[in-house]
Amino acid sequence: MVAYKSKMVERIRLPSRAQRERNLERAGYNAFNLDSEEVFVDLLTDSGTGAMSDSQWAALIRGDEAYAGSRSFEELESAVRDVMGFSHVVPTHQGRGAENVLYGTLLSAGDVVINNTHFDTTRAHIANQDADPVDCPVDGAHDPEMDAPFKGNFSLEGARAVVDDVGAENVPMIISTITNNSTAGQPVSVENTRRVREFADEIDATFVIDACRFAENAYFVTEREDEFADATVAEVAREQLGYADALVMSGKKDGLVNAGGFVATDDETLFERCKQRTILYEGFPTYGGMAGRDVAAMAVGLREAVEEAYVADRVDQIQALAEMLEEVGVPVYTPPGGHAVYLDAGAMFPHLSPNEFPGQVLVCELYREGGVRGVELGSFAFPETDRPELVRLAVPRRTYHKEHFEHVVETAATVLEKRETVSGLEITSEPEVPELRHFTAELEPISS
Ligand code: F0G
Repeated sequence: MVAYKSKMVERIRLPSRAQRERNLERAGYNAFNLDSEEVFVDLLTDSGTGAMSDSQWAALIRGDEAYAGSRSFEELESAVRDVMGFSHVVPTHQGRGAENVLYGTLLSAGDVVINNTHFDTTRAHIANQDADPVDCPVDGAHDPEMDAPFKGNFSLEGARAVVDDVGAENVPMIISTITNNSTAGQPVSVENTRRVREFADEIDATFVIDACRFAENAYFVTEREDEFADATVAEVAREQLGYADALVMSGKKDGLVNAGGFVATDDETLFERCKQRTILYEGFPTYGGMAGRDVAAMAVGLREAVEEAYVADRVDQIQALAEMLEEVGVPVYTPPGGHAVYLDAGAMFPHLSPNEFPGQVLVCELYREGGVRGVELGSFAFPETDRPELVRLAVPRRTYHKEHFEHVVETAATVLEKRETVSGLEITSEPEVPELRHFTAELEPISS
């Protein structure tokens, strides 16, 4: 059920079809190169793109900009304690800042880190410490059609095989990413989290939860895990996060702000070490690269994120978009995740091979037909992996309404009707680092 009304609005425009064609060409068929004003419904990411509440805007004005000992930091500490259950917080400019602080503190060259699935920046920060990131998703995680309640889970069997192979002494840290962004935003059960905790104890590793979307994950737990059928989202969040030794958090997701992040822990020694690294890379440990006002808004956002009305409305919106797309025959990853609907471009364009980038073709066609922007997460973003050809339509929090989603569905239906006429794309220029190519590479249609 809808939980908001609008108090401030932002004008959007749909450029003409001819203009959209020109924009695509100018952008080198890469939606990252489009200006936001050229986009009508922007589903590129749910990160930092949501709407703040009136309470958050009020907190923003009261933000304390003191370099040290800011009152806004105390508000954040108190929110993290109440909502997430941790007593120490090290703020950072955003999630990847928190990754740098925590992983730079915990890892050394040659270490192996196991995660249900590393998000891009997580993988890059682990590699940056000359450590080796290994994914252990459960079977079926990359199957867009398999129906299961917790496809985001961490595979204990997979992790045991890695430890048998490399030796427990080389695995100082394991991570569970909730929800699992790189496997279609799928949730992780509390039972799975408990088992990861036991496993971490067994091999004497630090257990980190990447908590970016912890509230959405907790909502799925209340809906799908019998033990928590009568629990509140706030109760589940505290229970689940409580199994970790430390959290990395991007406030741009379930912190409901446009910028910010943090590390949280109860471990005094780890806290002290993280503070030192934050001074080096982020700022003094009571602001960590954020303005005091953003810290204050994030403190409010964390509390709002576990309100039932908010999170139910949020996840329902995504489920409704997925259902509307399925009704018109657009293939989507099922069940839908917590922050995005993932379209199956491989199923949509069976005539295109992976090296013709069916996902990127779908991204371009959605823009061409309706000014809708999504992001490719298939062979263009992840060269040489056997992931499905997915396109993510990530939904910013508290931002779009039914009419926007109806437009997205109409647009996708039009692309579906024309699917046999679309041709593949080829890369014309790409950056040196292959892991980052989808952000800046340029393409052009393959002329037949
Ligand atoms: N961890 C996960 C699971 C994420 O999804 C992200 C960001 C980060 C860490 C890094 O946080 O952006 O604040 O530095 N995900 C965004 C996305 C960018 O579009 O999925 P950040």
